[in-house]
This record gives sequence, C-alpha cells and structure tokens, in this order.
Amino acid sequence: MSPWCGQGREIHVQEVALRDGLQSEVGFVPTEEKIKLVDQLTACGLKKIEVSSFVSPRAVPQLADAEAVFQGITRRPGVIYAALVPNVRGMERAIAARADEVNLVMSASESHNRANLRRSGDASFQAIKEAAALAATAGMRVAASLSCSFGCPFEGEIPAATILLWCRRLQEEAGIHSISLCDTTGMAYPALVHELVGLVRPSSPEANLTLHFHNTRGLGLANVFAGIDAGVLHFDAALAGIGGCPYAPGATGNICTEDLIHALEVSGYRCGVDLDALIATAGDFEKLLGHATPGQVMKAGRRLRGHRADQHGPAA
Ligand code: COA
Ligand code: ZN
Repeated sequence: MSPWCGQGREIHVQEVALRDGLQSEVGFVPTEEKIKLVDQLTACGLKKIEVSSFVSPRAVPQLADAEAVFQGITRRPGVIYAALVPNVRGMERAIAARADEVNLVMSASESHNRANLRRSGDASFQAIKEAAALAATAGMRVAASLSCSFGCPFEGEIPAATILLWCRRLQEEAGIHSISLCDTTGMAYPALVHELVGLVRPSSPEANLTLHFHNTRGLGLANVFAGIDAGVLHFDAALAGIGGCPYAPGATGNICTEDLIHALEVSGYRCGVDLDALIATAGDFEKLLGHATPGQVMKAGRRLRGHRADQHGPAA
C-alpha cells in the first residue's frame, strides 16, 4: 500500500515536547505551566505523552521538577504518561511518581553515550537491564530509546550491524520489546530509514517499533513517510517543533507534532487528535516560551484555511 494514501489507517503520534523539547530550552518553564500543558495535550487526544525525565537534575536542570509535574497532572484513562530514565536511580523515582511507562535511554554511538550519559555503552546497557528488571517487579511498561541510530555527530555513520546488535540485546538480555530508533541530530534520510527499518522489523513487530526524528536538516516528514512505507506505525514528535539533545552538537528541534498530524491527516491517516485544538495549544506554547518556534502549520493554518485577500500584499 502506498505511504501517500492513508486510507483511514491509524498512526500513533507520541508527544515529547515536555521532555525532549524542554531539556534544550535555555529557560526553566514553571512547573504549573508544564502541568497545564500536559493536561491540554491530553484534552487534544494524544494517547502517549512523555511528561519529563528522571535524570540527574545537574545534567538537565530544566526537568528537575519531574516529580511535581507527575504529581500535578490529571490522568485520563487510556493515556500513557511516560518518562525518560537513564539508570536505576531514575527508575526508582519513576516508580514513586507512578509513571505509566519508562523510556530507558542509551546511544548506539559510544562517543555520544559518553557525552550524554557519562559512561560506556556497555555500562549504560547494564544500567538499563537493572532498571528494566526493577520496572518488571513494579508492573510498569518499559521501552528503550537508541540515540544516534541514524548517525552520530562525533562518529558519523553507525553501522546497521551495531543497531541490530543493540536491538537484539535489549530484547533478549534486557527483555525490552518496545524500541525507539532515534535520529538525535537529524542525520536520517528516507532511503536509510527504509533500509534500517527493513533490517530491524523482522525481530521488532510494528506494535513495538517507534521512530524518533529531528528536523535538523529538513528531512523529518519525508523520513516519517519512508517509515510508514517500511511498516512503522509509531512516531515521536514535539509540539511547535522544539527540542534537541543538550549533549549533541548541532541538535535542533524534533519533528513538529501539529505539522506531522496535519501532513498525516491530509494524506488520509487517522491520528485521533483534535488538530485545531492542538494548533491553538502550540500557539500558546510559543508565547509561553517567549521565542519563535519551528512549527509551520500554526503560522499558515490548515491547508484549506481561507485568508482575507485584503489583508495580504502582492504574492511573490
Ligand atoms: N536522578 C537524580 N539524580 C541522579 C540520577 C537520577 N536518575 N542518577 C544519578 N543521580 C545523581 C547521583 O545521585 C549523584 O548525586 P550526588 O553527586 O549528589 O551524590 C550524581 O547524580 C552523580 O551520579 P553518577 O551516577 O556519578 O552519575 P553521573 O554524574 O556519571 O551522570 C547520569 C550520569 C546518567 C545520571 C547523567 O549523565 C544524566 O542524568 N544524564 C541524562 C542526560 C539527558 O537526559 N540527556 C538528554 C536525554 S537523551
Ligand atoms: Zn530527540
């Protein structure tokens, strides 16, 4: 089936602005604003929201209030409120805060793992394994994110064999079946997405595979359609297109949630999200951040939105 024709198929868009987005903001967004945003995103119909990170507050001070945010949100049944976790300490905090799912993070690149998590890939994997075992005893959903799956700003290409090896170890040794391939600094392109997903898919059924793209080089939405063509149904995105890893040079925003949902809807996919409400939320979010954001649909409006001719100058 062509990826261009959704024909009513469902695509799951997972919101990461509160985590991937806010971790790269210079300012600290007040806790009550974060809580309000989670509740607004819930009301828009998003079914999975990454609420915060349980990481070292010294490493990511913007998310030092993770417990308070989880404490303050109004949980809607059926919505998964997730958190990023790098180690057992983070898992203990996530369990205490009653996160529904933890996203255990490591990098496919040894250099990026050391820059971001201050240890070797193997040491991070051991931490993930221990954290996953703890999550199992708490009955918590567990997923793993593999940063730099499509390339690394320090090492360049990451061989497909490395990605396959980490996926296999996460599944077989750590018992984690839900895996996110993350394009941390926007190095993916459609043919690479197609190739890598084709290699990973046989051991990762579609329900378990997420793609996480940054729009660093403008290829974000093209990569999503390549991912759909390769059989992927789950994609991360950030409201207003903010985001980036503080420990990866050149990192910029995630693909933008409302732009992604707009692109999917005009192509005939179902996302189960109130797009108008989401666009309004993105506008409020931009005001809250106090600077321009990369989101495009919030500026232009939906494809068939009419504009008053007398309010515009001559077309270029
Ligand atoms: N939550 C809160 N505090 C934590 C923690 C966690 N999950 N993990 C470690 N710490 C604390 C320790 O208690 C210790 O505190 P102390 O100095 O007051 O005793 C301190 O952090 C250092 O602990 P250590 O185990 O030596 O960690 P580190 O300094 O080597 O840092 C990480 C390792 C993984 C904790 C840190 O690099 C980190 O949190 N990175 C996250 C980066 C990130 O979120 N990047 C973007 C997302 S991909
Ligand atoms: Zn990211």
